[in-house]
Amino acid sequence: MKLSALRGMQDILPQQIPLWHYIEQKARTILELYNFHEIRTPLLEHAELFLRSIGEDTDIVEKEMYIFNDKKGRRIALRPEGTASLVRAYIQNSLFNNPSPQKFYYIGPMFRYERPQKGRQRQFHQIGVECFGISSPSIEAELLWIVKQFFDTLNLKKFSFEINSIGCSKCRISYKEHLFKFLRDKITDLCSDCQRRFVKNPLRVLDCKVESCREILRDAPVVLDFLCDKCKKHFFDLQDELEFYEIDYIINPRIVRGLDYYTGTVFEVTTSMLGAQNAVVAGGRYDELVKIFGGPSTPAVGFAIGLERLVELAKDSLCLKPKSPLVYVAYAGEDLDREVKLLINEIRKEGFIAERAYEKTTLKNQLKKAQKLGVQWVIIVGEEEIKTSSYRWKRMEDGAQGIGSLEEIMKLLRESNENK
Ligand code: HAM
Repeated sequence: MKLSALRGMQDILPQQIPLWHYIEQKARTILELYNFHEIRTPLLEHAELFLRSIGEDTDIVEKEMYIFNDKKGRRIALRPEGTASLVRAYIQNSLFNNPSPQKFYYIGPMFRYERPQKGRQRQFHQIGVECFGISSPSIEAELLWIVKQFFDTLNLKKFSFEINSIGCSKCRISYKEHLFKFLRDKITDLCSDCQRRFVKNPLRVLDCKVESCREILRDAPVVLDFLCDKCKKHFFDLQDELEFYEIDYIINPRIVRGLDYYTGTVFEVTTSMLGAQNAVVAGGRYDELVKIFGGPSTPAVGFAIGLERLVELAKDSLCLKPKSPLVYVAYAGEDLDREVKLLINEIRKEGFIAERAYEKTTLKNQLKKAQKLGVQWVIIVGEEEIKTSSYRWKRMEDGAQGIGSLEEIMKLLRESNENK
């Protein structure tokens, strides 16, 4: 039987890992500068957590969740996103008792049973942040500023920062009525999913990706026109804040986000360089979610970056490769394994990547292996040299050779490493 990974799930091979590490490290550095702390939550949660936060009528919950029953018959889900898990962790661990604001970040895999295509996997990774306890729009602006700075450090340009406000639950009452009226006489033209959504939650019709529905929605009322005074002010203040950071933004009233928990500001950072899956970052406020889950009323806001999409964008400008070993320790003679291990231990203790032969083989084979590995130095342990506490060395770059004590060889390695 030929085994392969599940559809939409990819191996990230050693060749690609340096780029992932680089991006993750840059993200950690910048987020920690802004006082975000890493948090790690389980990959599995009670399915109900997502049903209640993301919303039962959303695509994620209706079609894309990996759900199964565990041995005790509990409904379990692989997390499709991080926000709901963070809200659960925030409440369960009483993190609200710590000084406000609480700012968290997470990096890890998410799972959605979507139709795989370029930029869309069933297992994908997010770098996400969530802030609890700040109601001022100054945090939304700062989050977008962080994204901008992060992308600058990765040398990524040409992004569009798109913002919108979908209002609070109060603004949405009147908006829902208008949307309902607008859709009522078009219902037979909507797809079957939307016909069902229209009855349960007309707002979710706005996420539909079916072209004929999108066509109908082009003339639909937009929630921005229905904001209450408080939401309107918040949205204007956010724009002032963005001007402070000199972030070019677009107000896109069509951003509604396909998750139910959002209130007020929502945003996406998109690029034209990824084809159909153009959103690299998405997020917004969810001021009501902590309360809904039984915590104290707490304003909250966050975003998540799709890491695969970021890697795809950065891979050409950041050409990073896995490190090759600096040294290969070879042997020439019988029963020298112990001496090879002692020497290679010393070399590795100094922090140099070193490789050796683990099986019995000829010196010729070892030198071939060293060449293939791309090492810069080969050190040869020989019977004669052991008697004189010295080793033969070869510099692969120019073929230079010599004999030296352990100290002398270490000096050569240190110097060559410094000059790299
Ligand atoms: P989301 O829009 O569902 O939001 O996902 C955020 C980002 O994850 C997307 O913009 C995209 O870059 C990436 N992404 C989503 N699905 C896939 C996929 N199937 N394959 C590859 N990449 C994908 C959230 O997840 C919210 N939790 C964001 C948030 C945090 N809102 C507030 N806090």
